[in-house]
Order: sequence, then C-alpha cells, then structure tokens
Amino acid sequence: MPLACLTDFQAFARERLPKSTWDFIEGGADDSFTRDDNMAAFKRIRLRPRYLKNVVNVDTRTTIQGEEITAPICISPTGFHCLVWPDGEMSTARAAQAAGVCYITSTFATCALEDIAATAPRGLRWFQLYVHPDRQLSKQLVQRVESLGFKALVITVDVPKLGNRRHDIRNQLDLKLNLLLKDLHSLKERTSIPYFQMSPIDSSICWNDLSWLQSITRLPIILKGILTKEDAELAVKHNVHGIIVSNHGGRQLDGVLASIDALAEVVAAVKGKMEVYLDGGIRTGNDVLKALALGAKCVFLGRPILWGLAYKVASRLQRSIRT
Ligand code: FNR
Repeated sequence: MPLACLTDFQAFARERLPKSTWDFIEGGADDSFTRDDNMAAFKRIRLRPRYLKNVVNVDTRTTIQGEEITAPICISPTGFHCLVWPDGEMSTARAAQAAGVCYITSTFATCALEDIAATAPRGLRWFQLYVHPDRQLSKQLVQRVESLGFKALVITVDVPKLGNRRHDIRNQLDLKLNLLLKDLHSLKERTSIPYFQMSPIDSSICWNDLSWLQSITRLPIILKGILTKEDAELAVKHNVHGIIVSNHGGRQLDGVLASIDALAEVVAAVKGKMEVYLDGGIRTGNDVLKALALGAKCVFLGRPILWGLAYKVASRLQRSIRT
C-alpha cells in the first residue's frame, strides 16, 4: 500500500526496526509529556484562511542565513543514522541535496564528516555542535567543519545533562558498544580513546562562552533549544545569528512547553534581529504553515527523517528479494 503521510512512514518504521532502535528514536524523557504535547499543540491551533488570491504558481523557495532552499522544511540534527541504515548520514546528506534543503549534521553522526561532505558536495549543510569538555577538541572539530564547507554552527543548549529516557534504560541501550562514532573517534585516534568514554558534553557551558565560540569560527552561530523570551533576548545581546525554538523533540527536560507554543514569544523578543526557526512535532504541511504563520522562517524535522531511512532499508530489501 502506498504511504500517504509521515505517520504512515512512522508505522512502517515501527514494524521493521529492532525494538531497541525504535524506542531510542521515538523515546521522550520521563513521561514523554512534552514529546506528545509537541504534536497536540499544533492540533489546538486553528487557521484563519484568506481566499481569492492567485495561487496558480506557488513558489516555496526561501533563504536561511542567506542560502537558498527549495522549501522551508529542513532536517534537524539527529545522531546515529547508521543504526537505521548502513551508510546512515551519507544517505541523509544525499537526500537533502536532492531535495534542495538544509541538513544539520549532528555531533553524534556515525559517518565521518569528510564522507558526508564528499557524498553530497552541493548540499547545504550546517553542523550541530555539542561542546566537548576538552575545548581544544571542540576547536579542532569546528575548524574541520568550516574547512569542509558547512555553512553554520548550531549549538544545542538544552543538553546540560542527558534526558532521562526510560525505554533506553529498560533496554539497556549501550550505543558505545554498538557503534563507533567514527568522526569524533578520529579526533582522538592518537590516544585511541573511544569518544563515549570521555564524558562528551560540557555541562559548564554558559552565555559567556559564546564569545569563545565566536572567536574560533567565522560561521554564523545558531542556538538550538531556546524556549523563552528571556533567553531569546540574551541571544540577541550575544550577537548570535539565529535561534531554533526546540525542546529536543521532548527528549530532554520533560514538562517544558511545546515548541510551537514557545514560538510567538521568542519571535517577539528578537524583534526581527535574527532568523527564528522551529523544530518539534512537525508532521504535516498544515503544521509547517502554522509555524510559518507564527513567525518561523523555516522548520526542521527530526524523527520523520529516521523513519524515511528505515523505509529505504525496507525498499532495498524488497528490491533484492525480487531480483
Ligand atoms: C535527536 N535530537 C538531537 N538534537 C541535537 O541537537 N543533537 C543530536 O545529536 C540529536 N539527536 C537526536 C536523536 C534522535 C533519535 C532524535 C529523535 C532527536 C533532537 C532533534 O534535533 C530535534 O530537536 C527533534 O527530533 C525534533 O522533534 P521531532 O521532529 O522529532 O518531533
């Protein structure tokens, strides 16, 4: 049966992926209240349609940070794509290039950054950085990303500590046993320390550290995970170039507001001084429209991209059974 919407892809992926992988992708933190509210909040919003406009030719193109994309629908950073498909992030990068949208590659990519860049050389890519406690390592990574043609640095601010994901605890999910984070590992090859043994995310990062980041890169800096006007005003004060309103798909602090419910407040606070984007709970074109109407320049998708990769697994298997 043809798949008609993202929730069809979700159901398809659920049937095919191993349980622990499925739980890792879908899981929220604690009671998953915020994860579910991300979707429910879109459904609470009603549209006020205006008619008698000429829509014979519709042009969905726009720009983000001055770069053109074919539609305001791009790809959020998610780690571990190789859990779902063998050449994980490389497939994602090729798909993003073909679609003409931006792909934010995660620090927890399971393909080397060089391979991701080489496989989709014309694609627009941003890099999501988790700042490492060893600042020298982070600096090297940022310089490498810049030399590989990534066009912006996305700093995820909502992971001072990893969210409490009950399914992963119950499944005893241990990503470091299953996967080598090739990219980060290569930074440490000289000492052969697998990345995960190194307490990867610096919990001490504060607003004042942004000036250090700005001093080591020429790339625009975008903060991902801002949900309040107070933090949006601080982002303006610290001269960042953009904000992604996000609650990490409900995987971090449970009980925070749905992304779409935080959007208008953040948009008002930045007073047009930077672009504001949104992720979390986008599942239909109708959701995209609501986010744009409330002031987002562009939206990003997390889990649906991984469902798409799982579909690729299944279609490849079907093709090989037929041949
Ligand atoms: C994420 N997310 C995430 N965010 C980030 O900044 N760095 C990362 O490495 C990851 N990894 C990650 C893995 C998985 C499996 C998921 C589902 C999510 C959060 C992601 O960027 C995004 O904020 C949410 O996924 C958006 O919500 P939806 O679209 O999944 O509802």
